[in-house]
Amino acid sequence: MLKRLFGKSPKTHTLQVEPFGANITVGAKETILMAALKAGLPYPFECQVGSCTSCKTRLVEGKIKALTDFAYVLEMDEIKDGYILACQSLARSDLKLRVESVEDGVAPLTVVTTNGTISSVRNLTHDIYELGITLDETMDYLAGQYANLRVPGVVDGRSYSFAEAPSVGGTRGLVFHIRLIPGGEVSAWLESGNVLGASVVIDGPHGVFWLRHSDAPILCIAGGSGMAPIKAILEKAIQDKIPRQVVYLFGARTQGDLYALEEISAVESKWTGKFAFSPILSDEAETSEWRGDRGMVTEWIAKQSGLELGKCHAYLCGPPAMIDAALPILKEAGTHSKNIHFDKFTDRSHTEN
Ligand code: FES
Repeated sequence: MLKRLFGKSPKTHTLQVEPFGANITVGAKETILMAALKAGLPYPFECQVGSCTSCKTRLVEGKIKALTDFAYVLEMDEIKDGYILACQSLARSDLKLRVESVEDGVAPLTVVTTNGTISSVRNLTHDIYELGITLDETMDYLAGQYANLRVPGVVDGRSYSFAEAPSVGGTRGLVFHIRLIPGGEVSAWLESGNVLGASVVIDGPHGVFWLRHSDAPILCIAGGSGMAPIKAILEKAIQDKIPRQVVYLFGARTQGDLYALEEISAVESKWTGKFAFSPILSDEAETSEWRGDRGMVTEWIAKQSGLELGKCHAYLCGPPAMIDAALPILKEAGTHSKNIHFDKFTDRSHTEN
């Protein structure tokens, strides 16, 4: 009777979410992601509008209503395998879900918001700065993740990857690589001369870009300041004595855009397995003395002969155009989409506009 008078009562459903071992409730108009975050789960997400795929989740059991067409961002085989976007899904029954990017054994880290002070600043190239920050509170992160940084005079935060391997138990000292963008607010601040000693606010860690447990060979592809998280991942892998084979393709425009070569050389000298590093220049003058590889870094994915692409795990970090060009090449060569991990540096992420 009441139902007829007042319409249907709003339904809730139960979500069983692994690997968190959580049972949570979702309302009829709430997305899975909203319910998970409300319940305090460290669910991976970034854009919340169905474009980044960070919240990709496997629907093990149950029915959902999709708010957008997943086919725009997920592969057909992923959709067939039951993958959905949590930020674009409403529950239409009780659900069993699995967030595979949060692996069993990788403890979700607490997101911290803290003040910090700029402790060092130096040029790495003509348009990439290295910023050292001393935090008021300890922050723990996984190599490959990022934090949001708010600097004086700029209202919104910008996202930057941690550029060094984390310390066990967390650290108060962070390092980021920041690329200058013409006309950018953070760029203007970086070039103002008032950077050292400035107070900043940082929240993190965020993101699901980290090295997955496996014995598979690793293909790293970075463009520009995409070097930062790849460098952190490789340095952490040395600490963990990981002996996997690595081929690292690093794309830059000219020799003047190359950086961190000594650090990667140090990684190579300590690596216990096979390690091949190739800087590749797309815009170096033909007349220069450069004897290394030339062209777009993505052209060298198929040309490299160091590892079998069908058996490797790929880690990509850099501008969207680089990643969008690399993905079909990798898939064509047989790299399984679940073994391709990437972090796109968009205007609001890692660089700034
Ligand atoms: S958070 Fe980006 S697609 Fe869901």
